[in-house]
Order: sequence, then C-alpha cells, then structure tokens
Amino acid sequence: MPDHFEDMWRAIAPVGRGSADGGYFRQPFASAERELDAWFVEQAAARGLRVETDPFGNRVAWWDVGSGPGVVTGSHLDSVLDGGAYDGPLGVVSALAAVEVMRERGFRPARPIGVSVFVEEEGSRFGLACLGSRLATGAIEWPLARALTDRDGVRLEEAMAAVGLEEENPQPWLGSEQVSCFVELHVEQGRDLVDRGEAVGVASRIWPHGRYRFDIAGEPNHAGTTRMEDRRDPMLTYAMTALAANKQARIAGQRATFGRLETTPNSTNSVPAGVTAWMDARCESDEALAALVDAITRQATDRAARDGTTLAVTAESVSGAVDFDPDLARRIARDHETGDWPVLPTQAGHDAGILSARGIPSAMLFVRNPTGVSHSPAERAELPDCLAGVDALAETLERLAS
Ligand code: GLV
Ligand code: MN
Ligand code: MN
Repeated sequence: MPDHFEDMWRAIAPVGRGSADGGYFRQPFASAERELDAWFVEQAAARGLRVETDPFGNRVAWWDVGSGPGVVTGSHLDSVLDGGAYDGPLGVVSALAAVEVMRERGFRPARPIGVSVFVEEEGSRFGLACLGSRLATGAIEWPLARALTDRDGVRLEEAMAAVGLEEENPQPWLGSEQVSCFVELHVEQGRDLVDRGEAVGVASRIWPHGRYRFDIAGEPNHAGTTRMEDRRDPMLTYAMTALAANKQARIAGQRATFGRLETTPNSTNSVPAGVTAWMDARCESDEALAALVDAITRQATDRAARDGTTLAVTAESVSGAVDFDPDLARRIARDHETGDWPVLPTQAGHDAGILSARGIPSAMLFVRNPTGVSHSPAERAELPDCLAGVDALAETLERLAS
C-alpha cells in the first residue's frame, strides 16, 4: 500500500533541515536534494509508475494508461537557502497522493498521467531560476547553461557529473506533443486565499520578474587613515541603491529587493574595493518592470558618479509576464460542490510559467498559507488545506484526463 500524504510528508520533513525547527537547504545536486530525488523514485516504484529521467535529472513518473500526450502534474524538490518545507515539495507529494486518490475512486484516465520533478527551480545554486524546465523545453540551451557556476566556482556540469549525470548533454524534449497540459500545485506565497477564506485557488498569471547583478567598484583603502572626503566607497553607492530600489518600487506599486550581497575584501578595517549585489524585481507588466529597473539604475549611476565609483548592471535572468490559458483556468476553477475556486495572480516564478511560455497549456493550483510567509523557515500550510489541495488536484486531473 503506497504511503498517503501524511506519511510522505513525515518521511521527507527532516531531509535538508538545518535544525529541528529551522529552514531547509535543499540545493540541486547536493546531498539533501539527492536524498529527496531517491525518495521520489522509490515512491514512484511503490505506485508502479514508470520513471523517465532526462540528462539534467528532471524526472517524470508515468501512470501508463490511455493514449496520446499526457497530463502532467508536479513541482520541484529544491529549496532556496534556509527555505520552507512547502515551496516545491507540496506539489510533488500532492501529485503522488492525487494518483492514489484517483485510483481509489476507480478513475480510469483516457490519457497517461505523469508526476514530474524539475531540478533547480529556485536558482539557489546556479543563479538561474527554473533551470530544469528551461533546459527541458529549450528555453535555454545547454552551451549557455553549462557555463553557469555556483558560489564556490563549481561549474554546472561538474556538479552534475558528481551525482552521475554526465553521459549526455541535456537537449530539449518537453513540448505539447508529449504533454497535453501541465498542472502545478503550490503553496500560496501571499495571503489572498486567507483574505478570501478559501483553501484552494487557481492561478491567472505570473508577474514578470528578473534578477539583476550590480557590480560596484571603488578604491580599497585604510578605514582609519583615509579622510572621509578622499574615499571612493562602493558600499555607499550600494546602500543608496538599496534605498532607491525600495522607494521606486513603493512609488510604482511594484516589488524590488536586494537579498544578496558580496563585498571584497570583506574586511572590517578597509574601505571595500568592490560590492556586488543582486536585485530581484517583479512588476505587473513587462513595461513596468523595464521602467522600474531603469529608474533604479539611473539613481544608482548618479550616486556612483558622486561617490567616485563605477557601476555595471547585468540582467542575469528576466522572465516575461505569463498569462495562463484562461479557458483552462476557468475549466479548472468552475463548478465544484463548494462553488467556484478563486482565480488569482502571483508574483512568484514557477516551472508552470516556463512551460506555459513554451506553448504547453499550463495551470496552477494554490493551497492556502495561513501567514503568507514563504522562502522562509516560517512557510506553512495546514494539514486540512493540504488534503483539500490533494482532492482539488485529483479532481482537476480527472477533468483534464477524461
Ligand atoms: C521562485 O520561487 C521565485 O519566485 O523566485
Ligand atoms: Mn520558491
Ligand atoms: Mn516553488
């Protein structure tokens, strides 16, 4: 008898946890994420699902029934640094549980049903979010991806080889010929469902978002003997840029965050030589995103001129707006015993957004998060809501695979 939702959740809860009540470190091709990957393969085998693995390590576990392109559901098992338990794994565990629910009800799909896991969704190790689904769909090509390195200078292909993924170069394989539609269940990362008093919702769209690297160079010097007026201090340029990002985003009603910073030589008694900082920006429209990044860059450039520093801004990844197929969202959201499910936008990126942008009809289900906190050890969803999510996913898959 395969494990039910609660057994699966209990089994993976300790994997990659910093401390008993701390956050998760489940970076791609590192031990905790690999342990979850092995767990996924075991769970697929316990359900008699056939596992396909691509050269990047993305997996689809197929329930081989019916014919034609399959209906695929799933998410990711990696986490941000010091992340929560639910972002990613909730979608994978719910997908496995939903297969069981459908079978217990005696549902016979007309199409194959696949449970997928995409690697490096968060971009927490190699800096590019949704790398697995981008490679699988051809949204990025291998020659570009293979040059990515992690913070320790380990190249992507070295990290893959270290876990036995070195035989073939990843090629795109995922398109609408294999997959008729993709559904990703995800913990909600805001409080819309709490405000609406609903356990489950459906995604309408994903805001465009990007990651931008700000490299600021100054003049390294002595922290005591250098007169304040003689300094060329890149930390000042950075500090003002972070404030400008916050202010410009507030004025525009959008989002901008500096969450990562490196300074060289990182010495208490030196004026730094350089600061590199990463900005995450997210807006309602592609135009608003471009305008926000422009406004922040302009202010940072002016400040650099005043500080005697130099600034270079590099867009490391930009994902355009994704509008999920509205007919599909309506088909999923409407006519339930409990009424219609709400349809809402999200500011978070997801593999479903990549697949949608590559022409695969895609949809997302959200499960209520009581605090809305995410990318944090405090991320949560209550068990009854998780079980409601499993039922909602099973019902959705039955609609789509009938
Ligand atoms: C991924 O979760 C993102 O939105 O950055
Ligand atoms: Mn995330
Ligand atoms: Mn996620």
